[in-house]
This record gives sequence, C-alpha cells and structure tokens, in this order.
Amino acid sequence: MDVRDKVVAITGAARGLGQEFAVALGAAGARVIAADINDCVATVELVKTQGGKAIALSLDVGDPGSALAMVADGVAAFGRIDALVNNAALYGALHGGRFDAIDEAEWDACMAVNVKGIWNCCKAAVPAMRQAGGGSIVNIASLAATYGMPFGLHYTTSKAAVIGLTRGLAREVGRDKIRVNAVAPSAVLTEGTREFFGPKMDRALEAIKSGQTIQRNLVPSDLTGTVAWLVSDASGFVTGQTIAVDGGTVML
Ligand SMILES: NC(=O)c1ccc[n+]([C@@H]2O[C@H](COP(=O)([O-])OP(=O)(O)OC[C@H]3O[C@@H](n4cnc5c(N)ncnc54)[C@H](O)[C@@H]3O)[C@@H](O)[C@H]2O)c1
Repeated sequence: MDVRDKVVAITGAARGLGQEFAVALGAAGARVIAADINDCVATVELVKTQGGKAIALSLDVGDPGSALAMVADGVAAFGRIDALVNNAALYGALHGGRFDAIDEAEWDACMAVNVKGIWNCCKAAVPAMRQAGGGSIVNIASLAATYGMPFGLHYTTSKAAVIGLTRGLAREVGRDKIRVNAVAPSAVLTEGTREFFGPKMDRALEAIKSGQTIQRNLVPSDLTGTVAWLVSDASGFVTGQTIAVDGGTVML
C-alpha cells in the first residue's frame, strides 16, 4: 500500500471525495495534483497541513485541451504522472426524476463530464504514464451502475459507461504497464449526496443502508484505502476490475 512519492492527479478535488482522496494520499506521501473546475486551494492547504505536497490546477474535464494542460503542468511540477484518479463528475448538480422527465441538456452534460471527461483525462495522461514506465488509472464509478439506481437514469447510465470504459481501456494499455480499475461506492455522506437527494436524503440513505450487509452508511474515509491500494504497486496485477465499496450490497 506504499504510495510514497507517487505523483497522483485527482480530478474533482475541490471538495467531497476528491478532496478526501487528495488529503489521504498526500498524508501517505504521494505528490498530489489537485484539479477541478472550482478552486482547489483549500484542498492543497489541507494536504500541506498534514505535511504533504500538492499543487492546485484548474481543469475542465470536458475540454480535451484543459486535460492536456493539467498533465503538462503536473509533469512540469513533479516530473511525471504515476496515477490518475478520475473522480470529477456531475453528481450533486444533477436533478433526479423519472427517466422520461430528465432534461435533455442535463442528460448531455452528464455524459460529457462523467464519461467523455474521463476519456479526455485518460487520453492526456496515458502518454505521460507510458513515459514514466507505467501507471494506474482509478475511475470512480458508482453503486448507481452496479445496482441499477432508478430516478437518475442519466447518472446511472454514465456510471455504467465508466465501468465499460475501465474494462476496454484496461485491455488496450496493459502492455504499457498501465492498469485501469474502477471503484463503485454506495451513497457517501458528502455535500454532493445532500444536493443530489435533497429533502429525500435521509429516506434514501436509510433505504440504501437496509440493502447492505454492514448496517451503517458509507463515509468518505471508507474509500481512501481502496483508492490508495489501487494507486499503489500492491495491486500491481489487478486491472479491468470494478471494486464495490458498498457495505455488501452488490457482490460482483
Ligand atoms: N457521494 C456519493 O455518494 C457517491 C457515490 C458513488 C459515486 N460517487 C462519485 O464520486 C465522485 C465524487 O463524488 P462527490 O460526492 O465528492 O461529488 P461532488 O459533486 O461533491 O464533487 C464533484 C467534483 O467534481 C468537480 N467537477 C464537476 N464538473 C467538473 C468538470 N467539468 N471538470 C472538473 N471538475 C469538475 C466539482 O467541482 C466537484 O468538486 C463522483 O464521480 C461521484 O459520481 C459519489
């Protein structure tokens, strides 16, 4: 589980899970590139408070040029990129609802950020990983895809696409010693979850908990060990997998 001196780019690192991954990996000795469409200065401060190293970069995952700039600036700062955590997504910003009531523009935005955004970042990072002699890509999927969450079909579909992207890309880049895996968390107590479920949050979390074997809701720190393991060489023979961190809801 050693991530010391690994250079790890984390997208969507301004808040929520991305910020949690940045702080945990930074505290464990990784050099963190915290990138987001919003300001990551607070995340970098948190990493530095724990004695870690991090830089904040502005990134719009939907823009291929912005993804390339993240990689170029990350390599300029730390010399290489060893790992990419594709965490940025439209989640809290989305509106739930029946499949036939989803706004078409919101559907398109969800695919552009949650799916194409990962493709953009992978296209930007893989050449740098090849140059570094290998790497690890960790895509944040969701229980929405593994379970089949209703009333948010754009989000559920986008996260299922993330799992397909993970598998196909893993087969393409294995020969370059680049591993690609996904993590599928159940609902985590984050600002994004509060925004996504709105006033129905307590009821939704209760329903999700009742489907788990472990009877408590997930908190952000429950995910950091899995992400750190996938970044580290300890998972060196694991690729193309989706790891459910969901308290035993869906057994893949
Ligand atoms: N919180 C949960 O319950 C949960 C469960 C399963 C999966 N996930 C996934 O985990 C990840 C993080 O979840 P969260 O709860 O922290 O979500 P969040 O909505 O709080 O954070 C998402 C981050 O992505 C950033 N972002 C959005 N669009 C972007 C863009 N175009 N370019 C760059 N950055 C952009 C946002 O600014 C934000 O900081 C997401 O991929 C989400 O789908 C979350």
